[in-house]
Amino acid sequence: MTKPDKFASLKAHFATVADRRILSLFGQGRAQNFSAMAGEMLFDFSKTNIDETALGLLLALAENSGVAAKRAAMFAGEKINETEGRAVLHTALRAGPEAVIKVDGADVMPEVRATRARMAAFARDVRSGAFAGQGGKITDVINIGIGGSDLGPAMATIALSPYADGPRLHYVSNVDGAHIADTVKGLNPATTLVIVASKTFTTIETMTNANTARTWMAKAVANPAAQFCAVSTAAEKTAAYGIDPARVFGFEDWVGGRYSLWGPIGLGLMLSIGPEAFEDFLAGGRAMDQHFLSEPFARNLPVLLALVGIWHNQICGHATRAVLPYDQRLSRLPAYLQQLEMESNGKRVSMDGADLPCPSGPVVWGEPGTNGQHAFYQLIHQGTRVVPCEFLVAKEGHEPDLAHQHLLLVSNCLAQSEALLRGRSLEEATAIMARKGLTGAELDRQARHRVFPGNRPSTTLAYPKLTPFTLGQIIALYEHRVFVEGVILGINSYDQWGVELGKELALALQPILEGRESAAGKDGSTAALVAFLRP
Ligand code: F6P
Repeated sequence: MTKPDKFASLKAHFATVADRRILSLFGQGRAQNFSAMAGEMLFDFSKTNIDETALGLLLALAENSGVAAKRAAMFAGEKINETEGRAVLHTALRAGPEAVIKVDGADVMPEVRATRARMAAFARDVRSGAFAGQGGKITDVINIGIGGSDLGPAMATIALSPYADGPRLHYVSNVDGAHIADTVKGLNPATTLVIVASKTFTTIETMTNANTARTWMAKAVANPAAQFCAVSTAAEKTAAYGIDPARVFGFEDWVGGRYSLWGPIGLGLMLSIGPEAFEDFLAGGRAMDQHFLSEPFARNLPVLLALVGIWHNQICGHATRAVLPYDQRLSRLPAYLQQLEMESNGKRVSMDGADLPCPSGPVVWGEPGTNGQHAFYQLIHQGTRVVPCEFLVAKEGHEPDLAHQHLLLVSNCLAQSEALLRGRSLEEATAIMARKGLTGAELDRQARHRVFPGNRPSTTLAYPKLTPFTLGQIIALYEHRVFVEGVILGINSYDQWGVELGKELALALQPILEGRESAAGKDGSTAALVAFLRP
């Protein structure tokens, strides 16, 4: 027997309003009624086709999907990652001093706090010079990691660069030797610290780059291991690699890689901005946790972001979502969110193993504004597919002398969402071209190229300033949004089996490329490419 479609009433409602102009919805109070605040952060979703009826149905969907119960289970340390039998407790990494959170009956918080204190002490020592390299005070830190062991700290280090007062941070992820080769160029190995960041300490890219870094350092210093530290859940593997346990910062398997920035994986960020600013970052995440736990769904930012996402993807059928930060320092946020959202919700079976009866999570992509405007916004405005856009913008920048540039940035952000909403009609385009002297068929032809259909949905997340606290709020907001979307879809957002097959095949291809094994059994295309690429 097929299960009833949980989206049926939403789809039926959408069918009746699909052609309506979003602009026609604006009347008394829409901007206020279709927006919500978390602290000083504003989420405006009034420029979408969601009306009172749709919002009511969406909120009911969240209620009926068991979001509240699953949320309580997650925060309580229950093993909601059922396919791996693990709890999902990244929230514990940012929990307050009084928190008691139990996994299998044991409070995990003493260990979390002890590790954070050790990280802070180490960061202070590195930043002050009390911990030095073999050539003196540490000037540069290379974080070697990939995926969740790279994207989070790399994104956050750029985002919070106005607060950076420690050593320079560099992030190496790609197994392409170009990445590490370019990174170490110009660095002094004797004043460089290497962080090997890997939850499993087995990831081939990370271990290969770590070996390359060790060889690079060994050419300049007597004891390279003394300038290595590690962040991992695998203490025995870090020891086998020769890293002093005093410089190993552990965490547990109940922290997913893409959710791990809040703990030891954030060491690079902490070294850059200092333990105090890192605490502010955690406080921002904690504030969003409190908001998520306590606000009614109708005013709950993670729930509302998720419901807008479900509306656009599963109901309206828009398969992608553009994340457009009008904040240059959030340049890596789209890449970070790609992993967070697509590795979490890119699943084709439900929790119970049955085929997912609806599209999985969306394709997430984006670039900062205003750069994107001069690249792909053409398609967003005039292409035949609708791309829901998510704008992010700060009220204030970090450059008081350049406040006029910040206003220009904000005006561009608002102009884009306004243009997407309004568009430009054929009559307006015709009038513009007629004023330029065109007439007849040529006027008609030229005008048609200048029509913007408009009626394209967008949301805006506006915040006072991109401080460590604000960044913490933003990241926790997106984490919980992914959680809510996953619960509504009925999938496990916390495993990632889809990355395994490629890893296995890459391992098998290595000896074939080296010429030690034959390509027999490979498909024709792969065999031909091996023949071309074999050294
Ligand atoms: O291949 C995917 C993945 O497992 C991600 O989930 C993870 O963030 C990344 O690889 C890195 O894994 P690790 O931290 O264990 O090196």
